[in-house]
Amino acid sequence: MPLRAPSIRRRLLLHLLLLLVPALADFPDRYSSPRPGASAGAGLGNAPAQEYLDPTYPTPRPPPSAPSCVVPVLSYSFANTYGAPPATAAYAPPAGCPAPWSLVVLSFSAAITGDQYDRVAAVWLDGAELLRTTTAEPTPDGIRWTVRKDVTRHSALLRDPPGGVLSVMLENLVNDQYTGVYNVSVSLEFHGVPAYLADAGSSSSAGAVDSNPPTPTLPESYFQPADLILPISEATGNSIGFWFRIQNSSDSRSKLVSVPSSTYRAVLEVFVSPHSNDEFWYSNPPDIYIRENNLTTGRGNAAYREVVVSVDHHFAGSFVPFPVIYTGGINPLFWQPMAALGAFNLPTYDVELTPFLGLLVDGKAHEIALSVVDGIAEWLVDANLHLWLDPASSSVSAALDRYRTPRLSITRRYSTRLLDGSFKIRAKRKSRFSGWVKSSFGNFTTEVETELKATSVVEFTHQGRNKTVRLQAEQETEITVRSSETGKEVGKVETEAKFPLWLEMVTEDGGNGTYVMRANLTHSLSVETGAEAEGLFEREARLADEQAAAGWMLVRDHAVVNGSAATTQAYRYSDGAGRVERAIDTLDGAVLSDNVTESYSALGVAASTAACCRGRRCHGIVAAKCSDVAAM
Ligand SMILES: *[C@@H]1O[C@H](CO)[C@@H](O)[C@H](O)[C@H]1NC(C)=O
Ligand SMILES: *[C@@H]1O[C@H](CO)[C@@H](O)[C@H](O)[C@H]1NC(C)=O
Ligand SMILES: *[C@@H]1O[C@H](CO)[C@@H](O)[C@H](O)[C@H]1NC(C)=O
Ligand SMILES: *[C@@H]1O[C@H](CO)[C@@H](O)[C@H](O)[C@H]1NC(C)=O
Ligand SMILES: *[C@@H]1O[C@H](CO)[C@@H](O)[C@H](O)[C@H]1NC(C)=O
Ligand SMILES: *[C@@H]1O[C@H](CO)[C@@H](O)[C@H](O)[C@H]1NC(C)=O
Ligand SMILES: *[C@@H]1O[C@H](CO)[C@@H](O)[C@H](O)[C@H]1NC(C)=O
Ligand SMILES: *[C@@H]1O[C@H](CO)[C@@H](O)[C@H](O)[C@H]1NC(C)=O
Ligand SMILES: *[C@@H]1O[C@H](CO)[C@@H](O)[C@H](O)[C@H]1NC(C)=O
Repeated sequence: MPLRAPSIRRRLLLHLLLLLVPALADFPDRYSSPRPGASAGAGLGNAPAQEYLDPTYPTPRPPPSAPSCVVPVLSYSFANTYGAPPATAAYAPPAGCPAPWSLVVLSFSAAITGDQYDRVAAVWLDGAELLRTTTAEPTPDGIRWTVRKDVTRHSALLRDPPGGVLSVMLENLVNDQYTGVYNVSVSLEFHGVPAYLADAGSSSSAGAVDSNPPTPTLPESYFQPADLILPISEATGNSIGFWFRIQNSSDSRSKLVSVPSSTYRAVLEVFVSPHSNDEFWYSNPPDIYIRENNLTTGRGNAAYREVVVSVDHHFAGSFVPFPVIYTGGINPLFWQPMAALGAFNLPTYDVELTPFLGLLVDGKAHEIALSVVDGIAEWLVDANLHLWLDPASSSVSAALDRYRTPRLSITRRYSTRLLDGSFKIRAKRKSRFSGWVKSSFGNFTTEVETELKATSVVEFTHQGRNKTVRLQAEQETEITVRSSETGKEVGKVETEAKFPLWLEMVTEDGGNGTYVMRANLTHSLSVETGAEAEGLFEREARLADEQAAAGWMLVRDHAVVNGSAATTQAYRYSDGAGRVERAIDTLDGAVLSDNVTESYSALGVAASTAACCRGRRCHGIVAAKCSDVAAM
């Protein structure tokens, strides 16, 4: 997805193709794709707009008989919006459905007809991001889709927005050739807490204060949405968008924030999307290969990336981002009418910052910074700092325990012979931080232990005409909260995330200035979470989301002129309350089958809702299933 002048990139690619038609150094790539065989000419067809599917993160069901309200916020046609400020609209919480809410869903709907590239977009409320999304490429008959995202964890902002301005950025270019205008509407759907759940909760409120047991326990509020959310985003976002635009590995972007001195828990929620030369970072060869073959592609710097969070220049956490494939990526026919994993709702990554509160709660401004190891232009990155405040005291005391910067160990094995080459990278980082916070709930020590492992292989064979990409990224995080006095464990969250990707592609000269590209792809997103809190709940959740795609395309310039593709998807989610499975088969733009199986255990629902913080308000933790991929 080029954020800068795609026309130049189109010329670049053409130039490259003349040099060496079938070399794959510049692939995967992105293409515009009026569906082969679809009627030509914008809007001439009589067929209704086709509905595109986003099967990645189904939103949870609201509890039965909860009052609900829908607030339409913004409606905008994104035509020639390249370089323009974000579209804005006023937002206020619904009078008819006051907080607290059991579930809040953000709904982003788009419709478009004609010819257009995929684009990146984001929704912010007062500079704090709520959704990162990418768009689907239209057909002449038109397409539409809706992304629904659970934003309950952003209740503090939605309840009490400091400015009440919702912004949507979507940079689009419209000309004679790329005619598609994205019509977008954003609304928010609020579900209240039904009386039967509100009552269930109040009888068992917080541990330490009421019951005074020998060891204090974590309060329920610890697992509910944060009390305050501070955006870590571009200060001049009103004119250029609130994301930081990271250009290289030494480009660290930061924001100074003052954290209330009553903060007893802090979690940073990070949004990222790579573009331009790093859109396909997991398949980039090292620069030596590009140089030795006199290639002109900017897609280099090899195939490892890691997003790093730091607090006052202390490394505080990191993750390998899930490789999201946008709808024009690899072979756009793969993604009609089902988007790739996460393309409509990009995963976000949580970094637990509670051990660092000792640095933050002194009432002064501190720097939270974001950077990308080995990144090249460009990465759109920002974050929200979620803070939980002590209701009974205006200041906590806290300290970070002994701190050592964890080392990234990385080995690279490269071999090249003209256009053939093999590039292997192994990366590993282990970190362990702990810190204590004494609030009115007690003195608790939080220890965060993370282990990140990634293996990346990019291989070119057959004079560079065949390319194989394998990525295996794995991250395990364990957050343990103990009573600082007795050492007894009072809460624990374990998360294990895995992102395997395998891609095989072959190009051949198609004659007459065209080429044929065949590709096979499998990728998956798997996240397992276990959470328990003494006296409150114990729960496990598992998500396994997989896609496999195979097909070919005939390409002239950057346009797909013929081709065929089949994609299958299997989504499986289970937790104490039930399981959801969805299996979808698509072929050449049509859905062949879409099977959904859901089962809920009545006992499970009752137990999880009663034990787990009244309704869905413990989302931050339990819904680690969904969009919060990395460290919870
Ligand atoms: C987008 O909105 C414009 C203006 O309301 C309308 O004319 C056009 O038909 C819409 N396009 C689609 C694809 O819905
Ligand atoms: C990295 O990007 C920043 C911001 O664009 C720029 O100022 C800096 O010169 C770049 N550094 C390198 C080594 O390219
Ligand atoms: C790259 O260019 C240099 C200088 O023009 C030339 O000597 C070399 O043979 C070229 N290498 C390849 C692989 O084409
Ligand atoms: C390249 O791919 C083609 C088509 O899949 C296959 O027949 C050929 O054996 C491959 N060549 C190499 C060197 O991998
Ligand atoms: C909290 O516990 C830590 C670790 O045991 C201890 O060093 C610290 O002094 C305690 N803080 C307070 C304010 O009691
Ligand atoms: C080659 O492509 C051009 C359009 O780019 C077309 O007009 C011409 O008929 C094609 N020739 C052959 C032999 O397919
Ligand atoms: C894709 O997989 C099929 C079936 O396993 C195989 O026949 C084909 O050669 C593969 N294509 C590529 C480009 O690797
Ligand atoms: C597309 O390719 C298929 C299979 O090779 C062929 O039968 C068909 O005629 C092609 N369509 C066009 C428009 O070239
Ligand atoms: C959906 O169910 C039908 C009937 O049982 C089966 O034939 C089909 O293969 C299933 N589709 C998927 C994608 O599992």
